[in-house]
Amino acid sequence: MATRTQKDVRQRLDELREQVDHHLYRYHVLDDPEISDAAYDRLFDELKAVEEEHPELVTAESPTQRVGAPPSDRFQKVQHLTPMGSLEKVTDDESLFKWAEDVRKRLDSDEPVAYVIEPKIDGLAINLTYEGGRLTRGATRGDGVQGEDVTVNLRTIPSVPLKMRGDGLPALAEVRGEVYMPLSGFRELNARVAELGQKLAPNPRNAAAGSLRQKDSSITASRPLAVWVYGMGARDGVQLASHWEELEWLREHGFRTNPFVERLDSIEEVAQRCTQWERRRAELDYEIDGIVIKVDSLEQQAILGALHSRPRWARAFKWAPMTAETTLNKIAIRVGRTGALNPWAMLEPVQVGGVTVSRATLHNEEDINRKDIREGDRVIVQRAGDVIPQIVGPAGPHVKGTRPFRMPKKCPLCGANVVKPEGEAMHRCPNRACPSRGLETLINWVQGPADIDGVGEQLMRRLWHLGLVRSLPDLYRLTKEHLLELDGFAEKSASNAIEAIEHSAKRTPFSRVLLGLNIPDVGWVTAQSLARHFGDVDRLAGATQEEIVEVEGIGPERAEAIAEWFSDAENQKLVDELRELGLRFEAGPEERPVEGPLTGSTYVITGTLEGFSRDEARKALEAKGAKVGDSVSKKTTGVVAGESPGSKLAKAEQLGVPVLDEAALKKLLRG
Ligand code: IVH
Repeated sequence: MATRTQKDVRQRLDELREQVDHHLYRYHVLDDPEISDAAYDRLFDELKAVEEEHPELVTAESPTQRVGAPPSDRFQKVQHLTPMGSLEKVTDDESLFKWAEDVRKRLDSDEPVAYVIEPKIDGLAINLTYEGGRLTRGATRGDGVQGEDVTVNLRTIPSVPLKMRGDGLPALAEVRGEVYMPLSGFRELNARVAELGQKLAPNPRNAAAGSLRQKDSSITASRPLAVWVYGMGARDGVQLASHWEELEWLREHGFRTNPFVERLDSIEEVAQRCTQWERRRAELDYEIDGIVIKVDSLEQQAILGALHSRPRWARAFKWAPMTAETTLNKIAIRVGRTGALNPWAMLEPVQVGGVTVSRATLHNEEDINRKDIREGDRVIVQRAGDVIPQIVGPAGPHVKGTRPFRMPKKCPLCGANVVKPEGEAMHRCPNRACPSRGLETLINWVQGPADIDGVGEQLMRRLWHLGLVRSLPDLYRLTKEHLLELDGFAEKSASNAIEAIEHSAKRTPFSRVLLGLNIPDVGWVTAQSLARHFGDVDRLAGATQEEIVEVEGIGPERAEAIAEWFSDAENQKLVDELRELGLRFEAGPEERPVEGPLTGSTYVITGTLEGFSRDEARKALEAKGAKVGDSVSKKTTGVVAGESPGSKLAKAEQLGVPVLDEAALKKLLRG
């Protein structure tokens, strides 16, 4: 083979660097890769090999040069060219509107004010200095005037450009952003660290900060860090009129800007969005602690100026903290409809994120003792999204005289000896006649499968304690006169409730009735499959284990449990009584699979989708004839994976089942 001339080598190196850079950008900045990881690795390896042969041709911006700087003893202090300020906060609509009013007064003009809103990323602020488009320095915020030079570490983060993209690059630009660790990466890192028996990082923010301040940049490189950029500091050769244009400019020059930034024309819309984001934040794969609101026009920003390095043109809308400290008064036990003993915490009422919290879930004995919390202790409670509050752990040392928690030996409701089956985490009451099962089944029924308007947990508890309703058939035998005996019921409200109950008997589809009967391990997917497959309860009740196994997604163990449930005389009586009372035990048209372009295919949905809830995605797929299952097998046609997908994605990859992202799902639904 003829040796390549120096010119050929240079040309090939340029090509390779451009390609590697391009694919890094597609993957880490746009989140939209064009080639497989393996194809990328081949390009990168070739680049490395050519550079190793020609060390004289290696440049600082080559993608191979992100890692490998020698470990440093300490970080140099560096001065930011323009200071990095901080944000004044607002905590509610009232203070937000007051700020907008102040902005208007100070601007003293009829010109409209537009706002840009951005997620306030809970990571750490950094300042990237580019000269002639090349990254020459990266620093932490420090005290806002002086930070630490962490250039070698920042260079290892793939979403930090070493070189700006495009032409006509400015002589100077300070680019500001936030380095963070995605939640998925944080969980993986902690799992890895736990395996090594090392200390876990308490939260993603600390993990990101610790990773960025490593003396050895190869450790930083091994950490899943990313950056969102949100603004600029000093600049020379960049002429822009608004913050929105600034973000656009940054995006065009290869920086990763957050996709959720929005430009809004009124402060009312801003307020609305801030409220929405308090709920939506749980869907993100990174933590945000508020929304940053900025006056868009740079001219208006200049007029407004700053006070004590806090710009008057920006505010951080911060939500009430999602954690609080309180006393764990008691660990109570609730016996579920399957007999499981569920411990829960009775707390001294405390405000968490604007809501009073007085109870929290606890999973089981092991979980309680692993968290090392005891009745009487001070504890930290946390509320995340819409979920039931949880106890994170103790707030300090144990209160004197407290003792570790032990599950009761006897069922608190019926006194039966509690059992803990091998390999299970839960303790159970084995008594099938235990009163708790009946009550919990009823509560679940009215709230879930039958979804009866105006009949909820409170009413079911009252009816139960009065002995008026002790079983599902009792509920459908209830009369208006019964309800009128209860405090708080009048003619109208009593007939409404009875009507709602009667209506539910006629309306609740067979599959939902099955779901509410408490057959072991029958969730909604299985209930639907059973309803579809057998068509009515007689065929289902008469089916053998072998026949039930034929239903897709049901294994021999579950099939046996289902067959056993239907062979029990009491359960047969229950079904008969409910049927006589008018409940539906035949599959209706809503259970019949729709014939459509996707008939014959099975999908599984995992993770959070942006444009739909999982239930909506399921319905949309079913409307096209697809089946939607809840576990991945070789027979699964595809797995739809949203943000933070779980083990189902791993399973799909392992089995070679195709994975669809949200865009692919939309395309599939459009046909
Ligand atoms: S703008 C003058 N935008 O919040 C300061 N900051 O208290 C302008 N942060 O130190 C900052 N996300 O670490 C801005 N989209 C965003 C942000 C953001 C997170 C952090 C940043 C800063 C702190 C301000």
